[in-house]
Amino acid sequence: MDKLVSLAKRRGFVFQSSEIYGGLGSVWDYGPLGVELKKNVKERWWRSMVHEREDIEGLDAAILMHPKVWEASGHVSGFTDPLVDCKHCKNRFRADDPRIKGTPGQPDGQCPACGTKGNLTAPRQFNLMFKTFMGPVEESAAVVYLRPETAQGIYVNYLNVLQSSRQKPPFGIAQIGKAFRNEITPGNFTFRTREFEQMEMQFFVKPGTEDEWFEFWRHERMKWHAALGVRPEKLRFHQHGKDELAHYAKDAYDIEYEFPFGWQEFEGIHNRTNFDLTRHQEYSGKKLEYVDTVNNERYVPFVVETSLGADRTALVLMCDAYHEEEVEGEKRVVMKFQPSLAPLKAAVFPLVNKDGMPELARRIYDGLRGRFNAFYDDGGSIGRRYRRQDEAGTPFGITIDGQSTQDQTVTVRDRDTLQQVRVAADGLEAYLEEKLAH
Ligand code: GAP
Repeated sequence: MDKLVSLAKRRGFVFQSSEIYGGLGSVWDYGPLGVELKKNVKERWWRSMVHEREDIEGLDAAILMHPKVWEASGHVSGFTDPLVDCKHCKNRFRADDPRIKGTPGQPDGQCPACGTKGNLTAPRQFNLMFKTFMGPVEESAAVVYLRPETAQGIYVNYLNVLQSSRQKPPFGIAQIGKAFRNEITPGNFTFRTREFEQMEMQFFVKPGTEDEWFEFWRHERMKWHAALGVRPEKLRFHQHGKDELAHYAKDAYDIEYEFPFGWQEFEGIHNRTNFDLTRHQEYSGKKLEYVDTVNNERYVPFVVETSLGADRTALVLMCDAYHEEEVEGEKRVVMKFQPSLAPLKAAVFPLVNKDGMPELARRIYDGLRGRFNAFYDDGGSIGRRYRRQDEAGTPFGITIDGQSTQDQTVTVRDRDTLQQVRVAADGLEAYLEEKLAH
């Protein structure tokens, strides 16, 4: 993990937030390569959910919502972690922190930070939602929350979408957006952060058909990850036990990846029953039923949710792509992203900065960059330039050499096989397009 974190900074995937001020706890910024990787993941998800399916519509709801939403959803009362405080060193821990010795609140409760006994308080519930104030006064009546999940924006808009799009159950609403949680034990780089992005889809179905749809979606989601090129042996399902289920879920599966720090969830598939819609109906006083005029019935739909973290997916892809190899006695680090997900698609190198090579290289680069995210690099030896692009995960390296200026051909180096082929400069775009389609 340390190697990946250092590569991420060196190449411009991920930087610590506000680094010049010493950083902000568990908040991260995406650099030039990271923002491309995450954008590619989000576009792929949006395409597969919204564009390729006729039964799912898109939505972009606001982060700030009416405070009653979070009472209805159960987050005000139920979205909590039990915490204990050390009265001696003032540190705070999750009550289930494995480093705690003895029983918090009892004389044997030993603090993992300062090591004293008997100073840990009994567990108290701590809400994970960030609060802020809306309008010019900072008083309790003006409190609003930063959403801890994007799902609620979908539930409160479900009738608007249903009516305006002319969909009817079974149908889904998909949304990508930021969510915020005041996590107590964040960490492992971008794995658990306080600000993150979710890609969530809520699928509204007729009561009684939810188990079938739940099965459908959990398999569909696993297939999707495999199609991103994630190694199948690093993916598995984990079904939640009764004690793990969120307050809204009747059944839940996580899709887990084997990170360098162990197997961990990066997507959740939840059978949320009609819990959320029924509660919003109750708290808002507005009917949220679907009226089926053909079959003359009305019901509050059940919901199957797929909830994927964009940041965690980017982290999965970075962990999975990271390879160290030995080539001709030298170590190389290479990020083997699926070409369609790679931040840069091609890098263009003049072999030397003379004899017409830079001019031709520039022309080729200018021709490519409107179509693909390409990079121009004329600094240092060609070997060093290749190594930089290997670390960036750029699938194709295009070199303009002495022969290029004679016969208008270039060499294309494949990141994974290291093979170089000579391609006519005017056929380069078509060549790359064909390769990137796979
Ligand atoms: N709407 C359901 C929901 O939010 P969740 O299991 O709490 O379910 C779903 O979160 C996904 O969101 C997780 O699998 C993860 O990918 C991402 N996620 C949740 N908390 C996160 C955090 N603190 N940092 C980064 N990603 C997080």
